[in-house]
Amino acid sequence: MLIYQKMNDQAKRRILFVDDEPMVLKGLQRALRKMRDEWEMTFTSSSKEALDILGSGSFDVIVSDLRMPDMDGVQLLAEVKSKYPEVVRIILSGQVEQETTFKSVQLAHQSLSKPCDADILKHTLNKLFALRNLLEDESIKRIVSQTETLPSLPTVYTKVINELQSSEPSVKKVGEIISTDLGMTAKILQVVNSAFFGLVRKISNPKEAVMLLGTETIKALVLSVKIFSEFNQKKFAWFNFDVLFNHSLSVSMFAQTISKEEHLDQNLVNNSLMAGMFHDLGKLILVTNFQEPYRRILTEARETRQNLWDLENEEFGTSHAEIGAYLMGLWGLEYPVIEAIAFHHCPGKCLSKSTGLLTAVHFGDAYDRLKNSSNDQNSGNGLRQLDRGYLDNLGLANRLNDWQTVCKELTERKV
Ligand SMILES: [Fe+2]
Ligand SMILES: [Fe+2]
Repeated sequence: MLIYQKMNDQAKRRILFVDDEPMVLKGLQRALRKMRDEWEMTFTSSSKEALDILGSGSFDVIVSDLRMPDMDGVQLLAEVKSKYPEVVRIILSGQVEQETTFKSVQLAHQSLSKPCDADILKHTLNKLFALRNLLEDESIKRIVSQTETLPSLPTVYTKVINELQSSEPSVKKVGEIISTDLGMTAKILQVVNSAFFGLVRKISNPKEAVMLLGTETIKALVLSVKIFSEFNQKKFAWFNFDVLFNHSLSVSMFAQTISKEEHLDQNLVNNSLMAGMFHDLGKLILVTNFQEPYRRILTEARETRQNLWDLENEEFGTSHAEIGAYLMGLWGLEYPVIEAIAFHHCPGKCLSKSTGLLTAVHFGDAYDRLKNSSNDQNSGNGLRQLDRGYLDNLGLANRLNDWQTVCKELTERKV
């Protein structure tokens, strides 16, 4: 049965709600009535009808239930993701559906729990729209359109992900997939055997690495090692890719540690490595595609101690943060990772009002620059570049000492 109700044709954002329980839909309609001046809302009780409705007009957002009889929310969002990738996907789930929610995480930009509060939904949507607007900026499109070497998602990474998402994922198979790429295997073994990982014995093959470090760490390592290996150091001798790789690795470890310290939810802790590893991904694009201007502004940032991202904005109208986030969006990485990358230098501009991946990456980045201020390719202002207003607003000013202590412990293990 289709419950089709347009609450206001003039509203700017078009949102489709899908839930097989009529009572839930009625509750949503009631709760969200106050939004009708801003949103045009359509409600349906069937996933199949939801797809028909999406096909008949342009929607900005789909908010879907998980458990539905004809086609569940996971299947529905997978279909929406492939047919209408521009539509923002939100899952609304009940308490009992946490396990399925976990499966749907990669398909949804955001998961919210029932009953849905109008203010939370409004805040969530505004946040998603703000990030989308930021990444739809003309300057980013111009940069990306002039880019000859936009890295694509490596096949070896998608193979690892497919294995991990299969019905019976096997550590042995993941190890075998990694082993097929000898260069990448050597680099991964070198990284995991560094003191940073604090392992008591030497790891000699990828399978052992997966077993000891876990799949989340391996996923982040496979992707980052492979991406960095595609850049030819000899062609860009003026930029040290190893320094950036080591900085990215350090930030990922700091971000993971802080995520755990702040008891972020497990999915965010898992994603902290990915966000840290790729927070400066945009620099790789700028180095390899805009050699002359970028070399000049890197030197200027170092010599004048100005913020690199301010100089990038002057030159390109955007910065490595937004460019990296844009690319991660193209790769389909999860929303909190994209948000953390996009705002890692200016977290106050993000509409998120809670401690999250962005907080962890922002601090990890500043802390690593403080530790490496003597040889950083950026201006080494370290913790002075922390956005104190942002941290104060989250009530985190008193956490900085603890964070420095745990990061210092990690660094000392590394040395
Ligand atoms: Fe950065
Ligand atoms: Fe950085």
